[in-house]
Amino acid sequence: MGSLSFWLTAVLASSVRASPILSSSVDADGLNLDIDLKDVPSSVRPLFLPSASGRPITNGSRCKVYPGDDEWPSDEAWTQLNDLSGGRLIGNPTPLAAVCYPDQPGYDAVKCASYTTPEWQRSYIHMNDPIEMMSPVAQGMTCSPPALFDSRGCTRGGFPKYVVNATEPKHVQLAVNFARNTGVRLVVRNTGHDFLGKSGGKDALSIWTHWMKDIEYIEEYKDSNLGYSGPAFKSGVGVQAFEIYKAAHEKGRVVVGGEGETVGVMGGYIQGGGHSPLSGLYGTGADNVLAFEVVTADGDYVVANSTSNTDLFWALRGGGGSTFGVATSVTVKAHPDLEVTASRFGFSSAKTGNETFWAAFRSYLDSWIANADAGTYTYWTLIPNNGTFAFAFSPFFAPGKSVKEATALLQPWFNQLNQLGVQFDPNITHFDHYYDAWRSSFPLEAVQKPNVATASRLFPRANLETAEKRQELYEHIRSSSENNRVQVHFNMQVKDPANNDNAVNTHWRPMVSLSMHSVRWPINSTATEILRRRKEFQDGDAQSWRDISPGAGSYLAEADRLEPNFGQAFWGDKYPRLLELKKKLDPYDLFYAHTGVGSEKWRVESVDGLPNENGKLCRVE
Ligand SMILES: Cc1cc2nc3c(=O)[nH]c(=O)nc-3n(C[C@H](O)[C@H](O)[C@H](O)COP(=O)(O)OP(=O)(O)OC[C@H]3O[C@@H](n4cnc5c(N)ncnc54)[C@H](O)[C@@H]3O)c2cc1C
Ligand SMILES: *[C@@H]1O[C@H](CO)[C@@H](O)[C@H](O)[C@H]1NC(C)=O
Ligand SMILES: *[C@@H]1O[C@H](CO)[C@@H](O)[C@H](O)[C@H]1NC(C)=O
Ligand SMILES: *[C@@H]1O[C@H](CO)[C@@H](O)[C@H](O)[C@H]1NC(C)=O
Ligand SMILES: *[C@@H]1O[C@H](CO)[C@@H](O)[C@H](O)[C@H]1NC(C)=O
Ligand SMILES: *[C@@H]1O[C@H](CO)[C@@H](O)[C@H](O)[C@H]1NC(C)=O
Ligand SMILES: *[C@@H]1O[C@H](CO)[C@@H](O)[C@H](O)[C@H]1NC(C)=O
Ligand SMILES: *[C@@H]1O[C@H](CO)[C@@H](O)[C@H](O)[C@H]1NC(C)=O
Repeated sequence: MGSLSFWLTAVLASSVRASPILSSSVDADGLNLDIDLKDVPSSVRPLFLPSASGRPITNGSRCKVYPGDDEWPSDEAWTQLNDLSGGRLIGNPTPLAAVCYPDQPGYDAVKCASYTTPEWQRSYIHMNDPIEMMSPVAQGMTCSPPALFDSRGCTRGGFPKYVVNATEPKHVQLAVNFARNTGVRLVVRNTGHDFLGKSGGKDALSIWTHWMKDIEYIEEYKDSNLGYSGPAFKSGVGVQAFEIYKAAHEKGRVVVGGEGETVGVMGGYIQGGGHSPLSGLYGTGADNVLAFEVVTADGDYVVANSTSNTDLFWALRGGGGSTFGVATSVTVKAHPDLEVTASRFGFSSAKTGNETFWAAFRSYLDSWIANADAGTYTYWTLIPNNGTFAFAFSPFFAPGKSVKEATALLQPWFNQLNQLGVQFDPNITHFDHYYDAWRSSFPLEAVQKPNVATASRLFPRANLETAEKRQELYEHIRSSSENNRVQVHFNMQVKDPANNDNAVNTHWRPMVSLSMHSVRWPINSTATEILRRRKEFQDGDAQSWRDISPGAGSYLAEADRLEPNFGQAFWGDKYPRLLELKKKLDPYDLFYAHTGVGSEKWRVESVDGLPNENGKLCRVE
């Protein structure tokens, strides 16, 4: 590191205006890149220089720079950004649902008709789009297909204005330098899965990392500081769960990634921690990282590992996406393939009646600690529907376990269900390979509904250790359910591997349940009504779950934008150090993510006053 900074600073110091600089070349840790600036007119050339050029960054204005501001970059500047990136700049991207609106370019009634609610909610439709966000509520609901929601027209709302379709680190550097030098808001989007809308931002410049898809298998990776010696995958950050799992399967390996098929496991998932069907054995996604390649806020392209840029390496493993830099690759541990036993089944109060249903559910809590300790992962749902309740294992997933071992774990609860006369068919299935088990067990994830917000709680072991505590937790889950909250839970533990000092939320480790519940509001509610319901949920059911788990936390990637005290909730004891590192690694506040580390200083001033990305990002006075 450092050779570039020294060279540029020295040259610039001699004469900025008559600068002979024709290229900004980066030479960091053996990574060489060249961005040739010789054809860039001198009027806009400074917008492309790395921070080592000594260019002052912001003028302290309250908000980021937006169209209509004097400082908004000229057309010439955007043209140069496009040319320098080899034509990879997408301007004024249109939302997918624009095809439904006659006043929009690309109006296509037939295409629009294909966007029925179930079709629209499939994640595959959205992930290959440059701007779509799978959290329409956080986007601002400004362009929905009418089958889903009447957005009363189509505007770009919380979507960005420009997108760099990045396939090389150099494209990321260009966008980073341009945003830092101009003050334009920067966002990073990979797949758009983020629940809180952190992959969007009104009129921003977006770095789209989705097409960074290279996967390289490394037979033997050694890092004595991390105590690791074994196979690894070096993966582009755009690689998704279904891609890396397949690549690993072909090598007789597994990697730690999410249950969701299309989640960007090498992007936002891994930087936010990331829980996995394998977390009981190997920890979070972040715990399995051996190295990142990263473009920093200064525009440098560096390696962050246990010996280089160690602060950045620590922060990127759990500190959250879009905060410390833009990763372009991640190297992760590859573990041996393993057998899995899984089970999917459910029962409903429509058949059992309320009393038996709740007794059956109550008895389930008696197994959570044992199931977590055994390294199993259960994705289960509790869904209220017009006075009835449905419970489902979707699935119980036991990596490394035979049918006999898995059945032994489940049997104590099954005995209770039998005693209560609950009918169920557990369909306990054995798979020789993780890949096959994963593919057949988990549902394809859906895009969020237009009238929902979800909050999560990481319930520690203490909430389940005594019969009294289990009764208390049961009552709170039931009460939230009776208040019509859809619930999704993960019964698991997250192993703490050796040599594992990183920024992953401290609240993961004593945890046995990641529990989520959602508030819904009637479609077409006014902004005032939505806000009222969301606050009532936060002050009511969400607060009651916090009250019975004092000092516990929430998962930053599956959370509510209104989560109070998010620093403590999302990172626990690590938060103070993360704040220090944010100041050090991104003194410009170039990167911003709502509820990200250091984001307290900024706020999206949304046009409707709701918690979403449809407004300017401004400093909090
Ligand atoms: C249906 C569904 C299923 C899910 N399943 C799981 C699961 O099993 N386990 C789990 O832990 N989580 C799960 N999640 C949550 C998931 O981890 C987060 O949504 C995560 O942020 C997705 O990352 P992404 O890159 O795909 O999404 P994006 O929305 O594109 O990005 C998420 C955040 O990361 C930032 N980011 C992305 N790439 C980079 C990069 N290269 N450098 C810097 N910042 C970056 C973005 O700016 C944004 O802030 C699920 C989410 C959904 C919607
Ligand atoms: C600083 O930003 C403000 C607000 O955008 C703008 O009005 C002003 O002209 C800028 N000042 C300088 C010196 O660039
Ligand atoms: C983005 O880049 C990828 C890879 O080059 C390409 O396949 C894709 O069509 C591009 N998408 C858009 C919308 O430009
Ligand atoms: C970290 O990365 C640097 C730069 O690529 C490399 O020289 C060093 O060997 C790496 N450290 C480890 C422990 O692999
Ligand atoms: C809800 O259930 C009641 C009876 O329990 C029934 O009359 C009503 O039609 C149901 N409503 C819906 C929307 O299913
Ligand atoms: C079951 O409980 C719900 C409320 O939690 C209630 O609305 C419903 O009527 C009850 N069903 C029966 C059959 O008593
Ligand atoms: C049991 O589960 C397996 C794997 O998910 C599935 O293939 C099979 O059809 C299921 N059997 C029944 C009877 O549902
Ligand atoms: C929402 O409003 C639109 C028109 O304003 C109406 O057509 C639609 O039926 C409403 N939806 C619901 C669920 O009330």
